[in-house]
Amino acid sequence: MIKQAVIPLAGLGTRMLPLTKALPKELWPLGNKSILEYILDECFDAGITEVIFVISKNKEVIKKYFLRDKQLEKAVKNKSNILKTLLNLDKVSKKIKFVYQDKPKGLGHAVLCAQKLLKSKYFLLLLPDDVIKGSNCSKELIAINKKKNSSVIALRKVKKNDVKRYGIVGFANKHKLKINKMIEKPSIKLAPSKFAIIGRYLLNKSIFKLLKKQKTGKLGEIQITDAINNMIVDENFYGCKFKGKYLDCGTTKGYIKSFIEMNK
Ligand code: G1P
Repeated sequence: MIKQAVIPLAGLGTRMLPLTKALPKELWPLGNKSILEYILDECFDAGITEVIFVISKNKEVIKKYFLRDKQLEKAVKNKSNILKTLLNLDKVSKKIKFVYQDKPKGLGHAVLCAQKLLKSKYFLLLLPDDVIKGSNCSKELIAINKKKNSSVIALRKVKKNDVKRYGIVGFANKHKLKINKMIEKPSIKLAPSKFAIIGRYLLNKSIFKLLKKQKTGKLGEIQITDAINNMIVDENFYGCKFKGKYLDCGTTKGYIKSFIEMNK
């Protein structure tokens, strides 16, 4: 059973500066709640009971968002709907553990920071830039993991010109979505396909021994894509063409589109 998920939240949000200087993008609204709460809802609905937030000293406001504030509760005691949302956040906070990433050394390094808290063979990793509407992508990954007993990632075909923004996979067997290659943000020429990694990973803990020795890659960061590319030499690794609608909240333009989509 997959019960734990990791959500990396220590990134600098550079694509959305200066807005992210004061409010982390994960707390930006989408519909009537923050982006991060959509990601949490997906986790809990998929049976996750503990979520590990990887934050930094600069992003402690995320901790504050979830922590109980009795003074505020008192202030809205006659406004039952608002009080309910505050109490609900407090309920959710009981399922969250916080770990710190001291420097923004990349996604691979962020995941490594959560290692000591992970108990079972497999765990979920959800990137909060990517919201998936209409179908629970984590559930889809879990179903494939059950069937194949292997790691799984979410995939979506992107336009040729967009491959440089994503991790791109190559296939040993395209029909069965068995992956044999992964390159982070390749040029069009080097891209092994047009299938991009979208931010949902179900990973075997064996990734950690590779992450520990992983050298810095694209953008001078420790990339999880590079570690997985080494992992697939020894282990089966499958893709999941998920059913839902992918909302890219990782750029200002994408965020605006996502906001409109969620308010339809
Ligand atoms: C990260 C991953 C990349 C993946 C993308 C999905 O990139 O490194 O492989 O395709 O998320 O959103 P980032 O968005 O942090 O640049």
